Amino acid sequence: MEFCYKTTKKTKYSFKGIVEGTEPLNQKIEVKTSDEIGELIYSFNQMAKFLYEAQEATKKYAETLRTIFEGITDPLALVDPDCQVEMTNHAYREWLKEERAAVFHSPCNLEHIENDTLSPQLLLKKVIETKKPLSEYWEGKDGNHYFIHIYPIFNNEKEVTKLVYYVKDVTERKKIEEQMRITEKLAAIGQLSAGLAHEINNPLGGIKLCFNNLISTEMDEETKREHIKLINKGLTKIQEIIKQLLDFSKQTELIKTSVNINDLIENVLRLTEYLISKNGIQVVKKFEKIPHMLLDQNKIEQVFLNIILNAIQAMDGQERILTIETAMKNNNCLISFSDTGPGIPSEIMEKIFDPFFTTKPVGQGTGLGLSVSKAIIEQHNGKIYVSSSDKGTTFTVELPSNL
Ligand SMILES: Nc1ncnc2c1ncn2[C@@H]1O[C@H](COP(=O)(O)OP(=O)(O)OP(=O)(O)O)[C@@H](O)[C@H]1O
Ligand SMILES: [Mg+2]
Repeated sequence: MEFCYKTTKKTKYSFKGIVEGTEPLNQKIEVKTSDEIGELIYSFNQMAKFLYEAQEATKKYAETLRTIFEGITDPLALVDPDCQVEMTNHAYREWLKEERAAVFHSPCNLEHIENDTLSPQLLLKKVIETKKPLSEYWEGKDGNHYFIHIYPIFNNEKEVTKLVYYVKDVTERKKIEEQMRITEKLAAIGQLSAGLAHEINNPLGGIKLCFNNLISTEMDEETKREHIKLINKGLTKIQEIIKQLLDFSKQTELIKTSVNINDLIENVLRLTEYLISKNGIQVVKKFEKIPHMLLDQNKIEQVFLNIILNAIQAMDGQERILTIETAMKNNNCLISFSDTGPGIPSEIMEKIFDPFFTTKPVGQGTGLGLSVSKAIIEQHNGKIYVSSSDKGTTFTVELPSNL
């Protein structure tokens, strides 16, 4: 706008300066006339005052945010998609000095990040790809356990341009949890010994009675033989219980042969045929063609047996369907067993693979089935995992095909 001849040089200079941002907003331009120009300058002053107040409020707000950001006791940073850190708080900078594994020490190209090893970089990559926030536990090379939370920030094109990176050291909490689990396990061992004592005591009572009869009563040869037979039966029973426990504690070498997984499942189904029909269970098989694999047949059959027995024991409702599926995925063989039982309550989910953990009555379950199975699968460099809801449970065994 061309200013009127009545405005002084100083007024023009102030106007220009305020508009261009070289002059502070909190200055008033003198109103010398009461005509239109005077009104305009008056309005301009009002607007400058308003802008000045808004500017000050924004500054204060930014300062408050900065103070909160700095004051957060866990490390927090604003990161670029190439791991370049743009803004950090005090805790984050401290971790940089301590060379902690969970902070970014240098930029990196996420395209070259390996997908199979969990790392903060891989987590960033996942958030950029999925465009969703992510929280994950991670054990760093420095031996600490971390909880990492990443939140994406988008531009107008809905691309992730920045990421909020929040990390927490949960090593102490993990230790306490581990300690609690050990304590619970010890309690479970106590429970098991009660069960064992009960199981051993029963045949022992019979043996003692027969033995006392044998040495203190006159009896004919026939009765004597009966007594000796009973003693023998009791001793065999005790021997079996002890063998079961010993089997659990020793991890024997694998004896691998080339086998067909589908055949192994059929073998186990034949073994459990009676139980399956007695319990009115329908078996649905969805077998894919699986290449032969190098495995310890006996041990893998034992795993399948444990999982199938658990499924049979779990299904006590109206619908009793056991679905067994086999499939190949990325050179791994996936074998899944789904039942229509009541599911596994989430509060015990973490414990089901622990030795001696059982929810079955004393004497019925030793709680060794799944822990032995997990050990066997891990010996084969495989994985076993579970998903469960109130509609049923699925155990999946993943074995690398290595022939
Ligand atoms: N399919 C399933 N449905 C529901 N719960 C299950 C299922 N499989 C396992 N569980 C739970 O996991 C626990 C541990 O299973 P695991 O096979 O290790 O021991 P167990 O069956 O109790 O005893 P064992 O196998 O030694 O006779 C079970 O007691 C049960 O609570
Ligand atoms: Mg079991």
